Amino acid sequence: MAQEDVFKKIIAHSKEYGFIFQSSELYDGLSAVYDYGQYGSELKNNIKKYWWDSMVKLNENIVGIDAAIFMHPTVWKASGHVGAFNDPLIDNKDSKKRYRADVLIEEHLEKIEAKISKEIEKASAKFGDAFDEAQFRATNQRVIANQEKIDHIKKRFVSALETDNLAEVKQLIEDCEIVCPVSGSKNWTDVRQFNLMFETKLGSVSEDASSIYLRPETAQGIFVNYLNVQKSGRMKIPFGIAQIGKAFRNEIVARQFIFRMREFEQMEMQFFVRPGEELEWFAKWKETRLRWHHALGFDTKKYRFHDHDKLAHYANAATDIEFEFPIGFKEVEGIHSRTDFDLSQHQEYSGKKIQYFDPELNKNYIPYVIETSIGLDRMFLLILSNAYDEETIEQDGKTDTRVVLRIPPELAPVKLAVLPLLRKDGLPEKAREILNDLKFDVNCIYEEKDSIGKRYRRQDAIGTPYCITVDHDTLTDNKVTLRDRDTMQQERIPVDKVKEIVLGKTSMTNLLKKIER
Ligand code: GAP
Repeated sequence: MAQEDVFKKIIAHSKEYGFIFQSSELYDGLSAVYDYGQYGSELKNNIKKYWWDSMVKLNENIVGIDAAIFMHPTVWKASGHVGAFNDPLIDNKDSKKRYRADVLIEEHLEKIEAKISKEIEKASAKFGDAFDEAQFRATNQRVIANQEKIDHIKKRFVSALETDNLAEVKQLIEDCEIVCPVSGSKNWTDVRQFNLMFETKLGSVSEDASSIYLRPETAQGIFVNYLNVQKSGRMKIPFGIAQIGKAFRNEIVARQFIFRMREFEQMEMQFFVRPGEELEWFAKWKETRLRWHHALGFDTKKYRFHDHDKLAHYANAATDIEFEFPIGFKEVEGIHSRTDFDLSQHQEYSGKKIQYFDPELNKNYIPYVIETSIGLDRMFLLILSNAYDEETIEQDGKTDTRVVLRIPPELAPVKLAVLPLLRKDGLPEKAREILNDLKFDVNCIYEEKDSIGKRYRRQDAIGTPYCITVDHDTLTDNKVTLRDRDTMQQERIPVDKVKEIVLGKTSMTNLLKKIER
């Protein structure tokens, strides 16, 4: 199946099974804003718990906070967001569509990269085991020419962005002969900068009201609380502060479902270290964060680091963890070495000293910061992209297909479905008795409508790792049939073993131990 179709199927499936709905759909929707449904919110909560526990529970020197979305407006001047949190945008005069100029160029580069990949694929199929990719890249004329094109465009692009030369960005779009995907024309406006922050008013009387912003990242809530947490928690460097919360960006191009939203959630951790030790910690956090991803058990080839060519002025190292979504390799998480930029700026703008006295070095300094920043919604999409599977199965001599969400059991929205075989003969009562005993420890669901086969399929579609069926024998032998989502194997087990088996497979501890290893 083409990856584009997979993406469409994931979107449709998310709606049909209560994971994600378009916001305000009743009123024809609000663009790039989404609501999480009954199973979506459970999955989201489980992802948050996995992240939070991996930071706050596993590390003695990381604590969590929950800062307000509204902050003093000067925070955003100090952080640089008022002056420079911009995207370069360009309009096509024929289609009247607006695009991010940098995205147009990146997509153009991806197309050239795809040409190279195709050549490599063809040659690899031709030469089999004898194929040497490095040698092929170094000698094939078409690959060399395309690689030179990429390097040249990248160089011009990075230099234009670094010098804020928007005319050069437009020139590059023209030189690359990039056309509007809607009108097909090259009739472009100039490139302009567009600030992504949402502004609103604080105060009830408009004359007295002052402008404030919806936070575009959660990180600043951590920076402005650095002193509070360090002092009240008697934290010693190195230490970290973690936070999960909403962020808002008025994205120009907000397509691709929950990949790029205007209201989204971030899970960020700022790790405060001694100046001079930041690159060592940067390398450690890169590795730790990749382990967190890999612990989920998805194909490790789908992850890669993308080191930034162009560093923000405050950073001395930055990388993205990219994942191969059905829409291609895209950023899911950023890891940034932000130097002492943010704390220094807040010291300057607030006029309050933000220093740490290091007893071992016997001196004061402004700590350096390593940031790990992952989008919760992107992580959600990553899981759905991996989990969605249409499987062909042979049953009773017939071929059938089932849609199964192979969500890691620890993150699955529902862990166990309790199903009475029939809606009579005391089976529902027995099933409810079992559920009432389990519900304190296991997120269960009760279903009695439809045939047992249909109920299994429904649970597969929401990713429930286990179902138990209560039948007439259960009333006498106190055993149930346990069905596994992935293998579809069924086994008869005593009721008092259910909790142990389900928790054994679905407990968050399983994932956390994998990171520690
Ligand atoms: N504090 C650093 C920061 O905010 P970022 O690279 O702008 O860095 C971090 O954002 C992460 O937040 C991204 O890797 C992505 O997962 C997520 N994110 C950013 N913009 C988003 C959007 N419009 N919709 C969904 N997720 C977004």
